[in-house]
Amino acid sequence: MSLQPIIDNMPQKASEADVETRLLPHFIRALGFAEDESVPSFDTGAGWVDHATRRNTGDKKFVDSRQGPYLYIEVKGRHRNLTEGHPHYFAAFDQLKGYFEGDNSESVQWGILINSLHAQLFRKHGKTIYPATPCLDCSGIDEIVKTFRERIESPARALTVAIYNNKGGVGKTTTTVNLAAALTLLKKRVLIIDFDPNQQDLGDALNLPPSRGQMMDALTKKADIHDSIIPYEYEFPRAKRKASFDIMLADKSMASDEEFTQDRVHQKLRLNALLGALQPLRQNEYDYIFIDVPPNWQVFSQRALFAADTVLLPAGHDNLHSLQNAGAAITELLPQVQAKRQKLLGDYGPIALPVFLNGLPSKISKSHAQLMHQAIGKVIDKGGASGFDLRPYFYPKWTADRQSLYMRHIRHMAHIASGDFRHVPAAFVFRAVFEQYSNFAKDYFLWD
Ligand SMILES: Nc1ncnc2c1ncn2[C@@H]1O[C@H](COP(=O)(O)OP(=O)(O)OP(=O)(O)O)[C@@H](O)[C@H]1O
Ligand SMILES: [Mg+2]
Repeated sequence: MSLQPIIDNMPQKASEADVETRLLPHFIRALGFAEDESVPSFDTGAGWVDHATRRNTGDKKFVDSRQGPYLYIEVKGRHRNLTEGHPHYFAAFDQLKGYFEGDNSESVQWGILINSLHAQLFRKHGKTIYPATPCLDCSGIDEIVKTFRERIESPARALTVAIYNNKGGVGKTTTTVNLAAALTLLKKRVLIIDFDPNQQDLGDALNLPPSRGQMMDALTKKADIHDSIIPYEYEFPRAKRKASFDIMLADKSMASDEEFTQDRVHQKLRLNALLGALQPLRQNEYDYIFIDVPPNWQVFSQRALFAADTVLLPAGHDNLHSLQNAGAAITELLPQVQAKRQKLLGDYGPIALPVFLNGLPSKISKSHAQLMHQAIGKVIDKGGASGFDLRPYFYPKWTADRQSLYMRHIRHMAHIASGDFRHVPAAFVFRAVFEQYSNFAKDYFLWD
């Protein structure tokens, strides 16, 4: 059944109750949920969301059990403007985020905001929340339902994370390797990708030589992508057990000093080459895919960010440019990528996760901390001047009541640096390093 007539006949100033009664029962059915698979006013553990739905399994009806919700829908009247960037939009998104974080929301994977003029789909992967579509105009409601339904019915298993800062040496490779090791020990399936053919540092960190041609063949679909992936195995010396994650090694044939100069790579590798190649791996095979991105804004970094759901931005407490670059990545580079994804694929593109300080000493002097926060203040002000609120990206615990300057961080540890010399992830070797990265993974990614 088409929902178009319902939208066409909706009062121009439809209230929330109008949207609720006229549209929602049909909208929920069109998304593929029967009446007994949908609960109105569902207790998320952090407030009541307008609807929760979940497919019935066996003879357990969601409407009776109310356990394991899968999708939340928050309804607004037309007086709430849900176009991106509007204060009403931010308020509605914050509300949905709050519900996603409620105690009863662990199983939730999707959320929808709708007011019958606009609708947007959001994804929740573990603890990470990001828009799965742009804000869409309800004048094409049947198309919207089709898009949402396709997404909801086949969620990608993996979260794809690009680790990026166009300032060099801030810990991208170190973070990639140790996060992969920590998540592996936490029983997640992880793939890491060395997308820097000029440095090939990620393979080097694990003592693995770069490939020759394999990645290029996978990206241009000349070969199965599985042929370019190998396992990295670590044997615990005393425990007679192994841990392993997968790696796609850098491809030396793509380095600029080899036959592929930047221009040739540009011609051969379409903007969506990495995203397209990763599709089957994202869908079913991994929980996390981390891409180690080169420190620039050129062919490889652009394709890496295009392939990502989220971007993790390391910076240094004593490295002004890395802090400025993190701000510029959020205000300038990511919007470019999002616009291109929207144009090419109709979806949203990567969002930034809160910036973290890598290699933070356990003590820094008061005067240095002051200088750093002043510099961050300038970055935030600059973002504000172009319409971005960067504060949550630097100070995730900041609220109106409690102006917390807490930043996420990884401590400076000699054991982490020594991993380089050993060519193994320090998180496999040292308990304290594992704990640091597993807490970090819990802050960003894991539900518990
Ligand atoms: N938390 C940490 N504690 C101690 N040493 C660290 C830490 N993080 C990174 N390092 C060290 O800092 C150096 C630079 O780190 P890394 O190679 O990860 O940076 P990068 O951002 O990948 O660099 P590039 O831009 O060249 O790719 C390495 O020698 C690494 O061992
Ligand atoms: Mg690196």
